[in-house]
Amino acid sequence: MSKKSILDSNKNYNNWFDSSYYHILYDNRDYNEAKEFVKTILNHLKLKKNSKILDAACGKGRHSIEIEKFGYNVTGIDLSKNSIREAKKNENKNLNFLIHDISIPMDEKYDAVFNLFTSFGYHDKKKDLDVLNAIEMNLKNNGIGIIDFFNIKKVKNELVENEIIIKKNIKFNITRKANKDFVYKNIKFEDNHRKFNYNESVNALSLKEFEEYFSKTNLEILEVFGDYNLKEFKATVSPRLIILFQKKIK
Ligand SMILES: C[S@@+](CC[C@H](N)C(=O)[O-])C[C@H]1O[C@@H](n2cnc3c(N)ncnc32)[C@H](O)[C@@H]1O
Repeated sequence: MSKKSILDSNKNYNNWFDSSYYHILYDNRDYNEAKEFVKTILNHLKLKKNSKILDAACGKGRHSIEIEKFGYNVTGIDLSKNSIREAKKNENKNLNFLIHDISIPMDEKYDAVFNLFTSFGYHDKKKDLDVLNAIEMNLKNNGIGIIDFFNIKKVKNELVENEIIIKKNIKFNITRKANKDFVYKNIKFEDNHRKFNYNESVNALSLKEFEEYFSKTNLEILEVFGDYNLKEFKATVSPRLIILFQKKIK
């Protein structure tokens, strides 16, 4: 990715993901859960050994690291410089990480593109489509994609509006709101006599909205799951919305 496009991408990027406080607050982001899900999904997909897989918005690479262990060639991309710096500590000849905006196509084509743990919908709806189009361009014909998103109905039903979490002696004051367009989180805290105030906003996308997005692309939805054990998706109860899709041959 060129210096200019990194600068353009960074203008709209949410610095919260790049802040060390994000990682303090979510230090419990589960490596074991990532490991188990990777095992389940790879078992389901049965990709050929040495397939090339792109982990789009990989964070610190918890899924990429596990995927590579199954004998695949993995590239992880994310806009968070600090997360990529951490991820790079695990690099080897089949596992690489780079700073890249997932809405901009890569120079290479992949057998599969994964977008895991709510790493979609952080921008406006036009950019959501750019991300899907970039995923399409990143895939070989018949290539497989996965988007693992939250289940908006469940998130709204169970929204905790105010929460205080204390981590490393920092008191994080979290406020959450949801409307028809967004799920919004505000995180306020003080550290070393400095006040911090971050926002995180995710588009409130239901399966229907994803279906509308997909209808504008050359990607076809194959299966929809509701949790990390790949159980059937049920809008009222499923914790996740996991969409498995394929790039059609034109
Ligand atoms: C909830 S985190 C999940 C990270 C990782 N998939 C995991 O499960 O640990 C969402 C990630 O999306 C990344 N992200 C958001 N918008 C992005 C973009 N346009 N390009 C690349 N990464 C992006 C953030 O930096 C953050 O690491």
